[in-house]
Amino acid sequence: MATSSNAQAQIDLHRELAPRYAYRYSFPFSRLFQQDWHAEMISHVPKDSGRILDLGCGTGFFLAELEEQHPGSVGLDISHDMLKVSGEYVPGARLVTGDAERLPFKPGSFDVVFCKGSLHHTRDHVGFLTHCRNALGDDGVLIMSEPCNDNPLIRAARALLYRRSPHFDVGDQGFTRKGIVSLCEQAGFEVTRVKKYGVFAYVFAGFPDHIGILRLLPGNALLTRLFLGLDRVLCALPGLSLLGFHVVVVGRPRR
Ligand SMILES: C[S@@+](CC[C@H](N)C(=O)[O-])C[C@H]1O[C@@H](n2cnc3c(N)ncnc32)[C@H](O)[C@@H]1O
Repeated sequence: MATSSNAQAQIDLHRELAPRYAYRYSFPFSRLFQQDWHAEMISHVPKDSGRILDLGCGTGFFLAELEEQHPGSVGLDISHDMLKVSGEYVPGARLVTGDAERLPFKPGSFDVVFCKGSLHHTRDHVGFLTHCRNALGDDGVLIMSEPCNDNPLIRAARALLYRRSPHFDVGDQGFTRKGIVSLCEQAGFEVTRVKKYGVFAYVFAGFPDHIGILRLLPGNALLTRLFLGLDRVLCALPGLSLLGFHVVVVGRPRR
């Protein structure tokens, strides 16, 4: 596979991150959080959707859940090292090493394309989304969750983290709600749903490899459930939804 410089940077970055992801998802409370996030994304799948692609499936925890509900789901990732971990969790799934910016599928191959945290690792966002559009059938659905930077404090913290931390690439960036909707529209999608996801549960249960406090607390699963409930309320309230760390976007190919 010929690779662009960003693609190579992502392959190198995720070679280091693959064991970290396995650790991150190894705690019951962090899996509880991830399962809630996945359920939010899966709730947008239309009935009778059979052909599902998880673009940037990483170490495959989401794909494993998809596979249970939609056997035959396909996972694609640019990082062979991330996919190697996937192979352990979803031995039955079809895993493809490839670049989302040059998808190796025929147009209209899928009913649903998921992207959970992969768009912000690419540089040509409209190009990436146009590939998603082409991979979908006319009645298909794109379901994404990406870092949201509507809140200036979150934007500043994220910029610092992406610049300083060896666990990010300096060119990675979050999106504003308005910005990501516009990117989807430029790629030929009609955006049908946008909602914020993740405040306290995202911070405290999402990344135990970075923020480890819940690891040390008894009752961390209960606390995670409480945070998830609180986050749901916050993300549903206009004004307070600014606190959301991610934005979930659902789009359909424009006719
Ligand atoms: C933040 S991780 C998310 C992984 C997984 N979706 C999850 O939620 O655990 C981003 C993933 O996108 C992948 N990725 C980055 N650029 C990509 C590209 N151009 N094509 C395919 N995958 C890519 C990375 O290798 C990584 O596995």
